[in-house]
Amino acid sequence: MSGKVHVMDHPLVAHKMTILRDKDTSVKDFREIVSEIGMLITYEATRDLPLTTKEVETPICKTTAPTLKGKKFAVVPILRAGLGLVDGVLRMVPGARVGHIGMFRDEETLEPHVYFCKMPKDIAERDILIVDPMLATGGSAEAAISEMKKRGCTNIKLMVLLAAPEGIEHLQKTHPDVDIYCGAVDDHLNEHGYIVPGLGDAGDRIFGTK
Ligand code: PRP
Ligand code: URA
Repeated sequence: MSGKVHVMDHPLVAHKMTILRDKDTSVKDFREIVSEIGMLITYEATRDLPLTTKEVETPICKTTAPTLKGKKFAVVPILRAGLGLVDGVLRMVPGARVGHIGMFRDEETLEPHVYFCKMPKDIAERDILIVDPMLATGGSAEAAISEMKKRGCTNIKLMVLLAAPEGIEHLQKTHPDVDIYCGAVDDHLNEHGYIVPGLGDAGDRIFGTK
């Protein structure tokens, strides 16, 4: 069985994705919209968080109402571009812990290398949402998920803004237990490993490094 792919089917996400694709969108707007879409996808990615109930007193009467069970949750950005999504997740789940995975890709082979990994102590007990704007070949996400599994994590989801079919297929083969939540699925990868039509280099556009 392979992981499910949840593609956001929502006019707000579609509209905001188009702004991200536009090469003339400013760094400031790009960064803000990445965060906003992150918040909207989090809404979908947290749909199965468990609920319990508690007693509250409204201005009218006492009632029993739903409340989050307080299950342990962590968001894990893949550095550096994943940082752009953290704020949107935390606006939805303010109590989440944050772990960081630093990864760079060899520019020739596109092979990912982990250079940094700092996690909350009890990470193995937490539900994990790995975040990165781009799923291209899938190499970075595959390596990040493997790192989390090495640390004992069993409930892992991946959230991206844009996915290439090649990356989805790769992840479904290498980590079939991981569901993918994305803003859109694009057409293909070009010979440099960029998503087409895509939005360019997400990290450079978030941090203004080009
Ligand atoms: C980008 C992106 C992903 C990776 C996706 O990061 O944010 O991490 O590429 O490509 P893949 O699916 O082929 O592995 P990049 O390596 O450009 O680093 P950055 O975040 O520092 O910009
Ligand atoms: N990484 C990016 O930032 N953009 C792409 O299109 C592919 C990988």
